[in-house]
Formats: sequence, C-alpha cells, structure tokens
Amino acid sequence: MDPITNPYAPGAGAPPPELAGRDALIEQVRIATERVRIGRQAKSVLMIGLRGVGKTVLLDRMRSDAEAAGIETLRIEAPEGRSLPAMLAPQLRLALLRLSRREKAGDLAARGLRALAGFAKSLKLKFADLEVGIDLEPEPGLADNGDLEHDLQALLEAAGEAAQAVGTVLALYVDELQYVPEDQLAPLITALHRCAQRQVPVMLVGAGLPQLPGQMGRAKSYAERLFAFHFIGPLDATAARDALEVPAAALGVRFEPAATEAILRATEGYPYFLQEWGKHAWDVAPASPITRDDRTRPGPAPLRRRGRGPRPQGHRDGAHPRAADRKGHGLEPQPRRHRVHRADVRCLPAPDHARRGLARGVRAGRPQLRRPTPRCSSHRPNQPRASTKASITA
Ligand SMILES: Nc1ncnc2c1ncn2[C@@H]1O[C@H](COP(=O)(O)OP(=O)(O)OP(=O)(O)O)[C@@H](O)[C@H]1O
Ligand SMILES: [Mg+2]
Repeated sequence: MDPITNPYAPGAGAPPPELAGRDALIEQVRIATERVRIGRQAKSVLMIGLRGVGKTVLLDRMRSDAEAAGIETLRIEAPEGRSLPAMLAPQLRLALLRLSRREKAGDLAARGLRALAGFAKSLKLKFADLEVGIDLEPEPGLADNGDLEHDLQALLEAAGEAAQAVGTVLALYVDELQYVPEDQLAPLITALHRCAQRQVPVMLVGAGLPQLPGQMGRAKSYAERLFAFHFIGPLDATAARDALEVPAAALGVRFEPAATEAILRATEGYPYFLQEWGKHAWDVAPASPITRDDRTRPGPAPLRRRGRGPRPQGHRDGAHPRAADRKGHGLEPQPRRHRVHRADVRCLPAPDHARRGLARGVRAGRPQLRRPTPRCSSHRPNQPRASTKASITA
C-alpha cells in the first residue's frame, strides 16, 4: 500500500498514531498534577522502563495535556555528560519569563529570575557548562551560596512561588533521568522534597531506564517515598491490538485476525516493535486486508518467526518489576522457552534481539537498544523487497 500514507511511526520519541494502553497512567499523573495545583499532597512521578517501551512519547503526551490545562512546564532531556544545572537553568529562565508576563506573578517571577542569576553566577565555577541569559541582577543571599543542594532548593522554591501566584504548577518533565549523576540527583530530590513540604507547587515527571530507582535510592534514601514509580512494560493484548489496528482502520485498512495475531506473538506487545512491524506490513501489503500469507510469498520470510508463542511478559504498568529487574537492571537475558529459528529472524527487529543488544550495551556501560544488524543485506527490515507480498508468517 501507499508508503506515503503509512501511519506507523517506529522511532525514538516518535508519537505513535495511537498511544495505546496508557490511559490509566496518564490519568493518574493528571490527578497528581491537579492535586499539587490546589496544594494537596501528591508524589512526583517516575516512569521506568526498557528502551522502546514508550517512555518519551508518554512524557510528551503528559506534558502537552498539562500545558493545555494551564500548567507551566519545562521539558528537559538529560544528555550524557551535561550537568543538571546546565540543563535546567535555560528552561527555568524561559518559564520564569513566561510567568513574569502575567500580572499576578510579576514580582515573584522577577524574584525567581534574580534567584536564577545568583544560581548561575555562584555555580559557574563548579559547572563549566552552565550558561544562561541573565535578565536581572542577583539578589545577595538568594540561591547564591555556591552549593548546589542549597541553591537549587532556593531557586525552585522561588520559581514555584511565582507559579503559585497564578494558580498553576511548575512541572519539570525530564527524560533520560538516569544520565543525571547521583551527586546531582540528590540536590534535585532535596529541592523537590522541600517544595512538597512547603506546599510550593513544583513537581517532577521523569523517565528513565530500570537502573533509575536504584540511583535515586542511593542519592537519597527517602526518594522511594517521595516518588511514585511506574514501571512501563509491553502492552497487553488488547492495547497491542489497538496500537496495530486502530491507525490502519482510521485509513480504511483492515488486518486479517491471523495477521494481527502473528504480529502480536512476534512483538510480544513491545511498542517499538509494533510500530516497526505495522509499518512493514503496510508497505508490503498490496491492498486491504493485510493478510498472513506464507504460500505465495517468494524468498525468505521478511517477518517470520517460528515457535511456541510469547514468553511471559515483563512488568506492566503500575506493577512491580520482577525479582530479576530489582536485582540487576532487569536486562539479563531471559530464559528461552521457545525455539526461534535464526534464519527466520536474522533480518528482524524482535524483542529478544533487543534485550540481548541492550544487555550487551549495559555491560559495556552504554545502555541502549541496538537493532540487530541484518545479516542478509539484500533484505533489510526497512527496505522490504518490492516483490514481497503482504506476508506475516507465524
Ligand atoms: N503506547 C504506545 N502505543 C503504540 N506505540 C507506542 C506506544 N508507546 C510508544 N510507542 C512507539 O514506540 C516507539 C518507542 O517509543 P519511545 O521512544 O517513547 O520509547 P522510550 O521508552 O522512550 O525508548 P528509549 O528508552 O530508547 O528512549 C515509538 O516508535 C513510539 O511511536
Ligand atoms: Mg525515550
């Protein structure tokens, strides 16, 4: 079918055409944010999961929903090797400038900008990458001790008070939080704790890999009480079906039930793989419905996997991770319960390939999802053969 209208979006942080199976969590975070807005107790939120399960797209959806509800948001992606103050300061400045344009917050936002100036000036020596525009002169004694723990607390409190003046929340959306070093996580946790104690409306919605809860706990032992940890896993069968079929149905295209089942089995409900398989199925299908067809298809199966079906799933939304996840990073190779014929899957992205790649990456200190290198160069998953029919073979 027409690849131009292909609705699927395999990628990193690429919003899916149907964000399936996450409504309950989105609602929980909305409730927490609204509670913070009216001065009620609510925990900051951390979403934990392996690569490709959909943390970034969830974070972005939560943020755009919050903005639509009038929440003042900051979006940060923690890159490896940059300091927390360097990431935070420019975004905080923009938020304070936005708040300063609102009449009721004017003076408090100006105070926040002075706090930011003191913060930047006093920490510049310690964090050489810290650069931020200075709009107002620092106020002596305000966030300018040169000690991150103290100054970040004063800065977030000042900014939060400006948000409070206009009945909103300062919400920090931070992706890849595991890259923030533990000695910088600790001041962030302390600052959030202080704001919560003083009922200043500042909250964090963060996302990170499975090592993040351990890092938070080591940074501050009370972190486990301060945050609501949500473990994001593969989609359950209903959500996975929706992720695959709803985008096609919106364009008048149907999947034969056998084709859907084959894709659900092969992807084990992992969101990235659902997008990838949906995209290829669409591209190779001559017309609707997309079928499972292993007889008329020439050449090696592009999307084929034999075996006894899925292994038990990993952790799901809101559930506790399995013991293995708590022990290590949750990335240890899983026991194989079914046989996968290598020849069939060597060209494919598949969850067990991803886990192996991920586990290797973690051992090497670089946790990341690596797509398996296609072994047959003539048949890469991204470039299905023109002659290949819509074929999904279980
Ligand atoms: N709930 C969902 N339903 C359907 N597709 C989804 C869902 N969540 C994520 N996806 C798709 O999965 C892919 C990966 O999503 P995303 O980049 O957000 O994952 P991630 O957990 O942030 O990965 P990483 O840890 O590598 O950053 C994207 O192509 C996205 O469109
Ligand atoms: Mg991400």
